[in-house]
Amino acid sequence: MAFNTEESRQLYERTVGVLIEASSSSSRGPANFGKYPIFMERGRGSCIYDVDGNEYIDWMMAFGALPLGHAHPEVVEAITGAVATGAHFATATPIELEVAEMLQLMVRNAERVRFANTGTEAVMAAIRLARGVTGRPKILKFEGHYHGWHDDLLVSSNVVPVSSLGLRSDPVKVPDSSGLNRSALDDTIIVPWNDLPALQRAIENHPGQIAAIITEGIMANMGVIPPAKGYLQGLQDLAKTNGILFILDETVTGFRIAPGGCQEYYKLSPDLVTFGKALGCGLPVAALCGRAEVMDALQWGGVLHYGTHNGSRIGMFAARANLRVLTRDNNTAFRHTWRIAERLCEGYRHLFQKKGIGVIVQNVGPMFQLMFTDQPAIRDYREFCQHVDRAAFQKFVLSLFEFGVYASPSAALHSIVTLAHTDEDVDRTLEAAEKALETVA
Ligand SMILES: Cc1ncc(COP(=O)(O)O)c(C=O)c1O
Repeated sequence: MAFNTEESRQLYERTVGVLIEASSSSSRGPANFGKYPIFMERGRGSCIYDVDGNEYIDWMMAFGALPLGHAHPEVVEAITGAVATGAHFATATPIELEVAEMLQLMVRNAERVRFANTGTEAVMAAIRLARGVTGRPKILKFEGHYHGWHDDLLVSSNVVPVSSLGLRSDPVKVPDSSGLNRSALDDTIIVPWNDLPALQRAIENHPGQIAAIITEGIMANMGVIPPAKGYLQGLQDLAKTNGILFILDETVTGFRIAPGGCQEYYKLSPDLVTFGKALGCGLPVAALCGRAEVMDALQWGGVLHYGTHNGSRIGMFAARANLRVLTRDNNTAFRHTWRIAERLCEGYRHLFQKKGIGVIVQNVGPMFQLMFTDQPAIRDYREFCQHVDRAAFQKFVLSLFEFGVYASPSAALHSIVTLAHTDEDVDRTLEAAEKALETVA
């Protein structure tokens, strides 16, 4: 039967005049998905099903929020059990303590834990805490890194023409949105990533002014760009010697790269770490963790952090089930996702080479992205903006849909391997990719 998304099209038409861009986030609408987005109805394991009954192998996995795939039975049981006994109390609860203790076992610097709902909220709390503890106003972030949609850091994280970015030695701050509080941006310093001399210069230019350096451990919002060897350690040393706090944003990499995230994988020792996405296994759970000396300033009368839904019971039960599965049998889940990802990435590399198409595959373990480019590697934001053909990527992904494979059509995002993905999914995806390439050629 021919691929048909008529039901999605009709639903999309109904959204016009009701929902903006058909959904609740600009990353889900027609800007990324062509004429209209596909409306999804259910998910199971590695697959997602749309309203027209089409099945897709899902490599987007809710932008990384589903490390076990869809509807993992232990998570379903945990959630239904929690709902039946009261969704949320907004009181102290034993389950919150239990999940915090699990985080302490997995994440080395999690001497203290605070829960929030989204990565954005956890980062906002980290920034306020850094300013409060150091008494300094400025936050240093990197070009092409995204840390949520709040005002302070919403700069130079969209893909823009490279000519608008100014010189590497004096980057132009490009706001990602209208409506930002421009004075918040006055205290944001931006620096190209993977460039220690540039970081050192920026620190020297603002003596005693910088409260924190915030970085993603692996750039995950410009495809996938790994840190250069020794870069994150160098960053950490520069922060330490200058009395600047080091915030590692593991919203994407947490509970994905290793049980202890990039902190463990790259042997880092950040002051504060933020988690989100994969922690709640589909429920909105985020966490701010860190050294006791810094985190204890969140006590009443210090740095304020509230939130009615923080530590929701359903989310906490989901997180406990999730972390149990992820760490079972000496962290088998992590070995599985790394192995499946290596097979898929190698398969893609081989396919594009065979077809003579200029595509590179960049990955760190289970996070990967295909980049349509004539370059041998993409190492930072500027190279991404200049050398990655996003339209070609989008065309390819939209054509994959027709052959039963789903991924984000945004070249700046990435795909994710979960515990639910199998060798058969890899084979089917590579077959679909070959057919999709023939269609778009
Ligand atoms: C590195 C990073 N930090 C923070 C966020 C914000 O997380 P959330 O969408 O849960 O607010 C994201 C979201 O993609 C992210 O990639």
